[in-house]
Formats: sequence, structure tokens, C-alpha cells
Amino acid sequence: MTTPLRIAIIGAGDFAHEHARSIAGLPQLARLVAAVDPTLERAQALCVAHTITSAYTDTTEMLRQEQPDVVAICSPPHTHAALTIQVLRAGAHVICEKPLALSLAELDAIRVVEAETGRTCTGIMQWRYGSGARFVKSLVESGKEGIPLLTICNTLWYRPYSYYEEAPWRAQWETAGGGVAMTMGIHAMDMTLWLMGEWIEVNAITSSLDRDIEIDTLALAHVRFNGGGLASFVNSTVSALQESYVRIDTQLLTIELTHLYGYENKDWRFYRRPEQSVETWHDAALRTWEHTFGSEPGSIATQYAHVLPLLRDGYGTPTDIGALRPTYEFLAALYKSAATGQAVKRGTILPGDPFYSSMRG
Ligand SMILES: NC(=O)c1ccc[n+]([C@@H]2O[C@H](COP(=O)([O-])OP(=O)(O)OC[C@H]3O[C@@H](n4cnc5c(N)ncnc54)[C@H](O)[C@@H]3O)[C@@H](O)[C@H]2O)c1
Repeated sequence: MTTPLRIAIIGAGDFAHEHARSIAGLPQLARLVAAVDPTLERAQALCVAHTITSAYTDTTEMLRQEQPDVVAICSPPHTHAALTIQVLRAGAHVICEKPLALSLAELDAIRVVEAETGRTCTGIMQWRYGSGARFVKSLVESGKEGIPLLTICNTLWYRPYSYYEEAPWRAQWETAGGGVAMTMGIHAMDMTLWLMGEWIEVNAITSSLDRDIEIDTLALAHVRFNGGGLASFVNSTVSALQESYVRIDTQLLTIELTHLYGYENKDWRFYRRPEQSVETWHDAALRTWEHTFGSEPGSIATQYAHVLPLLRDGYGTPTDIGALRPTYEFLAALYKSAATGQAVKRGTILPGDPFYSSMRG
């Protein structure tokens, strides 16, 4: 039996508890050894709630004392890149909450440090890991259902004023890195971009309606994919009826997902074209996919279960920086398109472009 990875958590706020619960549920793979938060009481509360031995207020001190194998970063977005670089240089792998970086410049800087240190950074993007998304990815990639033609991807969520008052970083460009697209729609858009293949152009509009905050509460985008498929992305934090919805129409099939913050197998549905009456081998695959792909939800626990063995054995992960960069480039293009009123093509936001170093340009 291999020794469990020693994991520390940096940032002991609301969502750190989900990480701690998820890691604690994998005792064969990992052991929580420390929590860090500038507010000692928060670090201590996380330790008490999840039986973690040591609470710290200082990351440098924690890294020196504990020498963890992996560090989970759950602090606010504006701290992610600097903490990731510090942790990689201290010799640990990083699993970092979204948004992993505030810009392509930060993302590329992390890549340089990965190459220097031989340690890797994995972004949290838990919806890529559930059984349903992995099955649909294999279905689309097989090409047996034809190419994806049209995709609808809606993140229609609701965040009251109190959400921003409890943690003011959530309402500001400088600390959140963007609004609904960057911090909420990122989950569904990332999964959809990953399922659809290479995006090539985006046209977007954003608005900050109905909340007295500087970041976007509405972000809409039309996207063109290599191969000609089109997508509509709609993101909101001001929608009373909340829903996360993804629908992919391929040439032979409609794939539909309806849920809110994390899907299960039952949330995925598959529909044949109306005129198709003869059962194909693939219809059998649609009925039996759960036998092959299991019943893992799109959750933080599922992501840890997949990623920790890969890190332990020295592999990259499905959401390492190389795998996630197209999504962050897409976000930069979305915000650039919304700011300039122009379509933005993939590969055009390069060093020197204001949108390379900030989503706000
Ligand atoms: N993947 C998801 O589904 C999901 C869901 C919710 C939040 N998140 C992400 O998790 C992160 C944290 O969100 P939250 O809602 O828990 O925030 P939060 O404000 O509740 O907690 C953040 C904590 O980080 C601490 N902190 C601030 N600066 C720090 C630093 N330099 N070093 C260490 N700790 C520091 C704060 O004191 C606070 O306790 C964000 O990036 C957010 O986008 C992800």
C-alpha cells in the first residue's frame, strides 16, 4: 500500500469545508495535515471540523513546517497565482479553486514555474470529472453521433446582496477577476467547451444589472467552433428560478443536462432524431453507459478521487494548466468582445494585448 499524500488547505472560508470533506472521504489516498488562513479562528474552525492537526496564519511557515505533498488553494481568486507559484517552488503540487488565475499572463507564469519545479498545478473544474460528462466526452469524440451542430449552455443562478456583503472580494474586478462569466458560468462553459472541441470565435455582451457592484451579473456569448458548430452561452446571477442547463444537438442525437450546482447520472438525457426507428449499436450504449462510466457526480469529491492518484503517480490531470488554458483564453476573449463590441478569434490575445494581462483589459 502506498503512503497517503499529505495535503494542506490554504484559505479556510466557506468552500474550504467542501474540500476538507472530500479529502477526508479518501483516506487511502490522502491525509489532511494543515490549514492556513490569515484569520486564525477560521483556520482553527476548519481544523476542528475535519480533524486537521495544525492551524497556521502564514503560508510560508506552514510550507516550512509541514512540507506537504499537495496544497489545496481555497482563498479568494486574486491570491491564487502568487500562492500557486509559492507552493510549487516549495515542492508541492497544487489543486487550486476557480478561477485559477485572473489572466492568461498569470496562467502562463504558473506554467513557467511548473516547468522549473517539476510540480504541477491542477485547477478545480469538478464538472469535467463526473460519469455523465466523461461518457458524453467519449460519445462526442467517437464521432459516431455525427458532429456537434448546436449547443445551448445556460448558468442561470441567483446571488443576493448578502452574498457580496459576506465576502466583499466577490463583487470586485481586482479580487474576483470578473463577474458571472469568470466565477459562476465558468463551470458549465468550461465543460461545454471541453465537450465541443476547439472554439474559434466569440461574440459577447455583458451587463451589471440589478446589483450595485462593478462586475457583470449578466454575460451572453455566441461561439463558433472548428467544424462549424455554434453555441449560445447565457450566464446570470440575478435569475429567481435557478438552473444549470446544457444541450448539445449532434447530427444524430440531442444530449441534455439539467441540474443546479452538481449533476448526477439521472440529470443527463439522450434523445434520438424523430425519424429514427431502427435501433443502432449505439442505442444499446446509451442504455448501458452507467455500467461502463459508473455513477460519480460532478463534485469536488469526484475530482479529488480522479486527480490524487494521477498526482501521486507523476501524471498530468484532465484539468491541468494545458487542459484549462483554452477555457481561460475563451474567458479573456468573451470579456474583450464585450468591451470592444467586436468578435474575438482564438489565438489573438497575446502578450502586449491589455486582455492578456487582465480580463478587464
Ligand atoms: N468549485 C466550486 O464549485 C466553488 C464554489 C464556491 C467557491 N469556489 C471558489 O473557492 C474560493 C473561495 O471561495 P469562498 O466562498 O470559500 O470564499 P471565502 O471568502 O468564504 O473564504 C476565503 C478564505 O480565504 C482567506 N484568505 C484570504 N486571503 C488569503 C491568503 N492570502 N492566504 C490564505 N487565506 C486567505 C480568507 O480569510 C477566507 O477565510 C474562490 O476562489 C471561489 O471562487 C468554488
